[in-house]
Amino acid sequence: MDKRRILLLGSTGSIGIQTLDVVSCHPESFEIAGLAAGSDFNTLAEQAVATGAEYLGLADTSAAGKLRDRFPDARVFAGADGLVEMVSAVEPDLVVGAISGFAGLPSVLAALEAGINVALANKEPLVAAGALVMETARRSGAEVIPIDSELSAIFQCIEGECKAAITRILLTASGGPFATLPAEQLAEVTPEQALAHPNWKMGRKVTIDSATLANKGFEIFEVRWLFGVSFEQVQVVVHHQSIIHSLVEFCDTSVIAQLGWPDMRVPIQYALSYPQRLPAPLKPLDLAAAGPFTFAEPDAEKFPCLRLARQAAQAGAGYPVVLTGADEAAVQLFLAGRIRFTDIPVFVERALEAHDGTPADNLQDIQRLNDWAYEYVSEMRSNR
Ligand SMILES: NC(=O)c1ccc[n+]([C@@H]2O[C@H](COP(=O)([O-])OP(=O)(O)OC[C@H]3O[C@@H](n4cnc5c(N)ncnc54)[C@H](OP(=O)(O)O)[C@@H]3O)[C@@H](O)[C@H]2O)c1
Repeated sequence: MDKRRILLLGSTGSIGIQTLDVVSCHPESFEIAGLAAGSDFNTLAEQAVATGAEYLGLADTSAAGKLRDRFPDARVFAGADGLVEMVSAVEPDLVVGAISGFAGLPSVLAALEAGINVALANKEPLVAAGALVMETARRSGAEVIPIDSELSAIFQCIEGECKAAITRILLTASGGPFATLPAEQLAEVTPEQALAHPNWKMGRKVTIDSATLANKGFEIFEVRWLFGVSFEQVQVVVHHQSIIHSLVEFCDTSVIAQLGWPDMRVPIQYALSYPQRLPAPLKPLDLAAAGPFTFAEPDAEKFPCLRLARQAAQAGAGYPVVLTGADEAAVQLFLAGRIRFTDIPVFVERALEAHDGTPADNLQDIQRLNDWAYEYVSEMRSNR
């Protein structure tokens, strides 16, 4: 395959660092043209030296100033708008969208508008703005290639299949660190406990979302928008081992699954090399060692975030935007020790109830509604 020039947005995070690992294993196939992150100057500077990237960006403008001093020959972009400008300045073959939270949406949209393919890890763009993201891609002819392991699994299962023949998507969930904890003990769990995911090492926001199952709710949106199925066709199945990354059922009752070790470098690499495959430096899957495999229904009462996501999906009309803004604020409050774990869904539900149902279809309205939900929850007080 021709060498691909990559713009890596969110380079200092868990997905970003693993993307650089994949790129360094295949220097003949990939080259890092640009790196961008939030405020972590030190990590970004190290990555700039290691990759020789000519375009650098930080959302934090004072940290971006330090980048200018340190790399006088690089083109440096500063602030949220700077990261959007960076996309068209770099003109990469592929943008990797690995910024966490809602902040990743504008640059992903800018890439798709410019007709640039996006390998997407960041969930919030498809939750808050799924119709806008996919319509933007359709108009320009750009592709959205999923990085998330479950989404990548589905993407691989339907490759070459007729989409009209899909009857159900079976989205697997590890269940998170509290799958077996009695519900009455959930109120006392600490951020440290919630951050200790049994199978995956990820950024803080997505790890807490995995513990509340909000993450699985977000993936229902991702499946709906990426693969054009209805929300009702997406069924969540708890599979603690995280070896079966998801399954697709077809009209003849055949079910196709994708399996692999829980290692994000595999779906990242597939998104970078798609439609080709490259070797990966992992031991082959050993089914006997990885099993036995278990499957169960999620506990929707114990984990209300899953129910809230489905309600927001069915309601439409801006509710999915409120879901992302409210969840982001509630997770921050929990990580700061200001609310209990069980307050997260309570706060999100209050924000959903407070929304007046006004739709948000363009970036400006979506941004405004997300900010409103974020502020609404940030100002709430816990009963603790
Ligand atoms: N990690 C996984 O295994 C995994 C799996 C599936 C999907 N995802 C999704 O992928 C995304 C990234 O996850 P992650 O685990 O890599 O998160 P992470 O480790 O927290 O990294 C987040 C990245 O986003 C950057 N960032 C944060 N706020 C920003 C802003 N306002 N503007 C620009 N950049 C900003 C951070 O920069 P600083 O370091 O400078 O703050 C960092 O580079 C999330 O949406 C997550 O849901 C992750």
